Formats: sequence, C-alpha cells, structure tokens
Amino acid sequence: MGTEATVPDADILLMNLLDNDYMGLTHREFDSIYSKEDDMNLLTLPNSQSLSTSIRATAQVFEDPKSLALLARIQQIAPSDANVLIIGETGTGKELIARHVHDLSHRKGKPFVAVNCGAFSETLVESELFGHEKGAFTGAFSAKTGWFEAANGGTIFLDEIGDLPLSIQVKLLRVLQEREVVRLGARKPTPIDVRLVAATNVRLEEAVLAGHFREDLFYRLRVAHLEIPTLRDRPGDILPLAQYFVSEYRRRLGYGEVEIDEDAKRKLLAHAWPGNIRELENAIHHALLICKGNRLRNEDLQLSSMQLFHRSRHEHDGHGGSDSLQHALHQLFEAGHETLYEHIEDTVVRTAYHYCHNNQVQTARLLGVSRNIVRARLIKMGAISALK
Ligand SMILES: Nc1ncnc2c1ncn2[C@@H]1O[C@H](COP(=O)(O)OP(=O)(O)OP(=O)(O)O)[C@@H](O)[C@H]1O
Ligand SMILES: [Mg+2]
Repeated sequence: MGTEATVPDADILLMNLLDNDYMGLTHREFDSIYSKEDDMNLLTLPNSQSLSTSIRATAQVFEDPKSLALLARIQQIAPSDANVLIIGETGTGKELIARHVHDLSHRKGKPFVAVNCGAFSETLVESELFGHEKGAFTGAFSAKTGWFEAANGGTIFLDEIGDLPLSIQVKLLRVLQEREVVRLGARKPTPIDVRLVAATNVRLEEAVLAGHFREDLFYRLRVAHLEIPTLRDRPGDILPLAQYFVSEYRRRLGYGEVEIDEDAKRKLLAHAWPGNIRELENAIHHALLICKGNRLRNEDLQLSSMQLFHRSRHEHDGHGGSDSLQHALHQLFEAGHETLYEHIEDTVVRTAYHYCHNNQVQTARLLGVSRNIVRARLIKMGAISALK
C-alpha cells in the first residue's frame, strides 16, 4: 500500500499494514481512518516484505497431538460468531490463530484489523478504538473512524486486552452488548457488525482479582476461549516447525536446500523455548545466516540461556538479591567489557522486556521508567524495529 498517511501509533501501522490486514480496505477508506490533518508523525508506508521481521506463516504447522486438538477446537469455534479469547504465552502464535479463526468464519474476505491495546497512551485509546468527531477534543481537526468501524463486517483482534484501561473496558462491554459504537464527541451511535477476538498472555483471572480487569467483560469474552500450549508442551511441533522455518528463510535468503543435522535436532528438542515459536523462528533464521554449506549444525543454534539464568539464581539462593547482583557485576568487571555500562543497561531492559512478555508498558512500569525510555533502548539495541 505505497501511500503516505498520518498514523496514530507506529505499532498499529506495522501490525496492520505489513501484514496486509487492510486487504479489505480501499485507499479512500484507509485515508479516512488516518486523516491527514492529524498532528502526529508523518510516515511513508514501507514495503511490507522488506520490513517484516517475522514471516507471515503461509502454512501452519500443527503436528503434535495437543496442536491437533487445538486445531479441532478452532474449527469448531470459528464458524460461530462468538467472541473468542485466546490465551497463550508470548510467541505461541496467538495472532496467527486469530487470523485462522477469521479465515474459517463467514467473515473471511472482510477486514481483519489487529490492534495492540498496550500500544496506546490512555488518552488516545478511546478515540483510536471508537473514533471521534471533529472538535471532540483539542487537536481533533477532523472526524476520524475508529478501529471498530474500520473492522465493520469483519473481525477486530485486540491483542494484550489486559492492558485496556478500566474506563475503556466499560465502553467495550457496551459496544459488545449494543453492537454499536459512539464516536468521541458524537451524539448518535453507529451500528457495527464486528466479531471480537481478544488475546492475552497474562492470566486475566488474576487481573480480575486484582481489580484491573472487569469481571463481567472477562466472562463475556471467555465464552469461547482457546488456550494455546507453550512450545515445550507440544514437542511434536518443534522439528516440523524448524523444518518449516528453514525452508521459508532459505528461500528468502536465496539458499539451496539446507539440512538440519542430528545433533542440531537433539539440541532443538532439548531446549525449553521460553520465547516459544517466535524464539524458534529467530533461532533458525540466525542459524541459517551463520551456517556453512548446506548443513545446519549444533553450533549454529544460539539458544537463549534463560534456563542457565534461572539455575544460577538458584545457586545463589541464601544470599540476598543484592549479593547475587554484586556477584554478577564482579564477574562482568573481571571479564572486561569494552562498553560495560551500556551492556548492563541493555541487559536490564532486555531481561525486563522478556520478563514482561515483550510488553513495553509493563516493562516501563516494572523498571519505574517511562515507556519512551524502554522503547528507545529496545530500538537502539535492535530488539524492536524503529517502526514498531
Ligand atoms: N502453527 C504455526 N505454524 C507456523 N508458524 C507459526 C505457527 N504459530 C506461530 N507461528 C509463527 O510464529 C511467530 C509468532 O506467532 P504470533 O505472532 O502469532 O505469536 P503471538 O502469540 O501473537 O506472539 P506475541 O505474544 O509475542 O504477540 C509468527 O511468525 C507466526 O507466523
Ligand atoms: Mg501477538
């Protein structure tokens, strides 16, 4: 979609444009969503393939018995018009499943709009989701369609639904009950026909108990829910997924056939995959970049050391937290790192980001810094794209 548009948040831009979510929208409809008078960043929409960091699965791999059972459940739920709640750790394939639900429903061919609820500031979220009229607030120079209206006739995917502020949860519940949205500053509601698929990587029950998530909304969403098992819980998928990513990335890189050798296969099967399918995808992509010849070997696979990290924590049990931090720092001082300070800062942010399941808002909260700081750091270390 090579056009210029003014966008509210680049997260949303990436999510929706790189992956062609807007297939169902014309340029005019798109422009009406992103009015040019908005005073936000002006972005030139990039070529989707070149910027997309992970591949859009064209084939889906479901081989483990647990995945086959999940697939059967998706097939059962998808044709109904029930709202769906997808629960799964980071990188387990929630968005892919949401798209699959859409594709197996009568809404296929209509818009699939993916929105990351954690990507908005609290003040923007309402007008982003439900739209606003001209003059609804300072800076609202023109009326704007919200994501719900953009998804009309199709499916809206609300990722990280647990991040929605309580005030918006009330409004969302109303939209689901009444099947209409009221734009900010509007008197009249607009009828909409949208199926909601929501996803969370945290246990929403706990958020309900803690008073961060409305119980009535939780029950409404939970009617049809899909629990996505972690990759370590469906080991039968590991090698088929690895083969699949090898064939996708080698094609992209212009390589010939590449074989995974037996030692490398054993290593893949033994790993705990804390980052699930996304981690496997990245590991294979990286391995292909460094492997020699047409064989992917054990040493080409650089797998995360989250398990080692846990182990070393246990080894230091008995010492206070600050003792083990000091110990780790001493080791780093001895190792002599050229840009030590930067390395430590990067590690803190990256580890917190992993700990928060790649949620920038929660990472910022955990570290007690602003989201902008987290985001800038993640961009600098290449953990996220500047556009994301
Ligand atoms: N069953 C599958 N077959 C093939 N590829 C898959 C499958 N499930 C997930 N993937 C791929 O793994 C990657 C991660 O999937 P996805 O983005 O859907 O996960 P997620 O749960 O939404 O992650 P996050 O919590 O980080 O948002 C994507 O590149 C996706 O295409
Ligand atoms: Mg996701």
